[in-house]
Amino acid sequence: MPVRKTIVGIDSPEALERALGSAQYIADEGLATAAYLALALGKPLLLEGAPGVGKTEAAKAISAVLGRALIRLQCFEGIDSAAALYEWNYPRQMLAIRQAGERSINIYDDEFLIARPMLEALRHPETSTLLIDEIDRSDHEFEAFLLEFLSDFQISIPERGTVRALERPVVVLTSNRTRELHEALRRRCVYHWIGYPDAAREAQIVMMRASSVAQATAEAVVGAVGRLRQEPLSKPPGVAETVEWAEAATLLHQGGATWPAAFRRAIGVALKDQDDLMFLQGRLDQVITGIAA
Ligand SMILES: Nc1ncnc2c1ncn2[C@@H]1O[C@H](COP(=O)(O)OP(=O)(O)OP(=O)(O)O)[C@@H](O)[C@H]1O
Ligand SMILES: [Mg+2]
Repeated sequence: MPVRKTIVGIDSPEALERALGSAQYIADEGLATAAYLALALGKPLLLEGAPGVGKTEAAKAISAVLGRALIRLQCFEGIDSAAALYEWNYPRQMLAIRQAGERSINIYDDEFLIARPMLEALRHPETSTLLIDEIDRSDHEFEAFLLEFLSDFQISIPERGTVRALERPVVVLTSNRTRELHEALRRRCVYHWIGYPDAAREAQIVMMRASSVAQATAEAVVGAVGRLRQEPLSKPPGVAETVEWAEAATLLHQGGATWPAAFRRAIGVALKDQDDLMFLQGRLDQVITGIAA
């Protein structure tokens, strides 16, 4: 199976980093390098990180850079091959059998096959990117089943035979690390841990994603979020929360709220856990403004 050694117009991690930037995604050197190598070597890219650090968005941006359609498989507890691969459309098969009468029909024809994300990706590897999102939510059986898919990029449909990709599909897997992934799965991938961005990069992300936000507001929110992440919270704010908090506070400010009260009043978009709010009670304003108590 051919491996993509070059990607048109992208001949280095730096070039990929720039291209991702044009797709509204700010990648650091580590992520750009891992993604570049995964693409160049034809391996799946495994992105792990805390909630809201930009894992899913990275897959979307990679897909956009490649000019491909994103096919997303959202994992969940109990996900099985019917949700991931394919299903037979039983009602249509039954109807066709009834309508056919004496005539013989092939009930395993394409028209009765409902392709799910993994089969779709195998059928159109040159025009799609497969995102297997939140793999840690699935169970071990599904992970074992994925191993086979990721090694050979083929699947067997008993009634039809084997479907094999003509080239290696681009696959991005994400995990929030709510459980450890199997060693064998990791081995097949290029791995990258997405951490929280540094303050300058996070402010850049806020400005890029929320055009209504002033630079000073972005920087203040990034500072406050950085302090919140140092607290032992059960749900520390991700980058998504930083963007939304900056946007929400700006909105309140435009409606007449003063600074820093606007940050305080918009806290519900940054902290979404009552225990965390209780824990910070009384200190929240200091944490937000960075003024020592
Ligand atoms: N590096 C980045 N460049 C641009 N935007 C980013 C970046 N990182 C995060 N974001 C913003 O944060 C939002 C959330 O990111 P995303 O949904 O990808 O997080 P996630 O890691 O998949 O979270 P979860 O684990 O909750 O699914 C994005 O919609 C985007 O606005
Ligand atoms: Mg996600």
